[in-house]
Amino acid sequence: MKLNIAVLPGDGIGPEVTAEAVKVLKAIAMEFNHVFTFDYGLIGASAIDKDGIPLPDTSLELCKKADAILFGAIGEPKYDNDPYAKIRPEQGLLKLRKELDLFTNIRPVIAYEDLLNNSPLKRKYIKDVNICIYRELTGGIYFGDKKVSEDGNNASDICEYSRFEIERIAHMAFKAAQSRKQKLTLIDKANVLESSRLWRKVVKELASQYPDVTLDFLFIDNAAMQVITNPKQFDVILTENMFGDIISEEASVIVGSIGLLASASIGDTHAMFEPIHGTYTTARNKGIANPIAAILSAAMLLDHFGLYDEASLVREGVDKALKLHITTPDLNTKYDNISTSKVGDFIEDFINNPDETNLNFTNIHLGQSTII
Ligand code: IPM
Ligand code: MG
Repeated sequence: MKLNIAVLPGDGIGPEVTAEAVKVLKAIAMEFNHVFTFDYGLIGASAIDKDGIPLPDTSLELCKKADAILFGAIGEPKYDNDPYAKIRPEQGLLKLRKELDLFTNIRPVIAYEDLLNNSPLKRKYIKDVNICIYRELTGGIYFGDKKVSEDGNNASDICEYSRFEIERIAHMAFKAAQSRKQKLTLIDKANVLESSRLWRKVVKELASQYPDVTLDFLFIDNAAMQVITNPKQFDVILTENMFGDIISEEASVIVGSIGLLASASIGDTHAMFEPIHGTYTTARNKGIANPIAAILSAAMLLDHFGLYDEASLVREGVDKALKLHITTPDLNTKYDNISTSKVGDFIEDFINNPDETNLNFTNIHLGQSTII
């Protein structure tokens, strides 16, 4: 298959983790005789530094022409700490999501057996957790009207949704539930918000088209507790933009590191693949950023194009790396100096030699290598 992939590494650790995802995709292309081409563009603080805007037209055009987009991370503390900043890196990502109409953000949360002890949560609660969060990505309070009064003492952000916006992602989430454990949980704040009541009404109406799916509802405050105290109850979670942002980051605690959570942002005509983590700027260029979320996002890219064997091989490589503790320090690995690129090298090598035994891997990558 030929795939033209736009790569937007972004800020902070974005470039480092994205480089590993590209490395892995190149290994897959070689192993399976695909032709993947990679074209790079600027976004975020790095684009502001160069062009004065967070999403230059060249980057937008690159993404529009591409079959898929691989995105790194966005943001810079100097903007976070400056409430007066008129231009912000995040505007680049939000504009891209909106322009490409990437309305469904899919965030799988899977507890790895080998990492159960990395989570601060008790093993018995998190073992076998497998949740898929469907977060609406182009509406709600992120994109509603924003106002600041002239004297700067009043501000508002409107949270607005239409039936159309809710229906299109709800269909995706119901279908996902059908192919999983047939359970869908809508998370909202319908006891307070009109927009949430619309979500409940519309999703309830659609439920009759999916009689095999059990639909239930949780208020976001309750869900925030239950995702930690009883995560096994969840199969597919459907929620609006802001609640999805928060609940998915919270759910990363189950997995043991936010550096493991991948996502796919899908629209009718475009698709982007992005780790859910931020820019972790204090780790920039130190080689300690976990590239697995970016690599698993690349696996989601492969799935998106029906390259299931390829995606499985990437995931097997990730599993193997976790099993052998070939991981960055966020996972408290038993080795203390495995870098971002060494994790990528290991998975690349696994893709090139999937038939190697465990023992050989340990010998090749631990015994003889200079990395330890
Ligand atoms: C995410 C991020 C973004 C969001 C930021 C960087 C705009 O937190 O993808 O979860 O809020 O959507
Ligand atoms: Mg977030």
